[in-house]
Amino acid sequence: MSEEPVSTGLLSERVEDIEIHLLLEGLYRRYHYDFRNYAQASIKRRLRQAREQLGYRSISALQHDVLHDPDMLPRLLSYLTVQVSEVFRDPSYFKAIREKVIPHLRTYPSLRIWIAGCSTGEELYSFVILFREEGLEQRTLFYATDINQDALAKAEAGIYDLDRFQLFTENHRKSGGKSSLSDYYTAAYGKGAFDKSLRNRVVFSDHSLVTDAVFAEMHLISCRNVLIYFDRPLQDRAVGLFKDSLARKGFLGLGSKESLRFSQHTASFSELAPGDKIYQRLDR
Ligand SMILES: C[S@@+](CC[C@H](N)C(=O)[O-])C[C@H]1O[C@@H](n2cnc3c(N)ncnc32)[C@H](O)[C@@H]1O
Repeated sequence: MSEEPVSTGLLSERVEDIEIHLLLEGLYRRYHYDFRNYAQASIKRRLRQAREQLGYRSISALQHDVLHDPDMLPRLLSYLTVQVSEVFRDPSYFKAIREKVIPHLRTYPSLRIWIAGCSTGEELYSFVILFREEGLEQRTLFYATDINQDALAKAEAGIYDLDRFQLFTENHRKSGGKSSLSDYYTAAYGKGAFDKSLRNRVVFSDHSLVTDAVFAEMHLISCRNVLIYFDRPLQDRAVGLFKDSLARKGFLGLGSKESLRFSQHTASFSELAPGDKIYQRLDR
């Protein structure tokens, strides 16, 4: 018989790993939410947090309730998906879109833009405002997708705490904004609500980069701060999806900590604005 040291730390660690594996498998088989290939350290941290804050003794106990009670699903998803965002987040990214991508997009009679992993909508509103300022909104359809339904509902409402608008306004200005951000929202009762007209040309949709397929040909895909949560093979799957979805010479924008450098699809793209993580699909 092999001698297993009864080092409790090590032992309980292993049980937790098994529980996490089983919970992720269960989530997939019961609800088709697939977190099995997300970056493990971050998933583990988030599940521990969910277990503690939702008051469960173990991950298995949490798993029991999630599998038996669909109402628990959104609560767990709020831990498993990170919803940090900002209007005109990383202004230099939007400046580069304005200066380096828009001149190409102007040459198309109609445009399709996909904001993948749009979260609560801040990135989407940044794009619609930018396209309006550049005179392209009316010929563009914006697709805003995410797996988190609560986040999508917030994106569709377009209402944010008013104290965030100071930062949004500053970001917009730094991104080369051609008007005042206050032209696009109204303030009341501590909230700022983006003008409904900004949603005229937006399609909101539940779409997973892990389990779903391509749904239209796009001229620009912006997928920022989503790939960081995926392991390498899953990042390759998502970038493969973007590659297949992009029109000839279409554009792909990633987050500041993301890149195509180690992707199996690197050869299909050229770097248009390397510092701002903007790539262009090479000819097929
Ligand atoms: C940190 S937020 C990024 C928000 C926004 N793109 C930005 O950069 O400001 C990450 C988003 O990715 C979404 N997400 C996670 N897994 C996803 C998947 N498999 N498919 C689509 N979106 C996903 C989360 O629900 C969350 O809204």
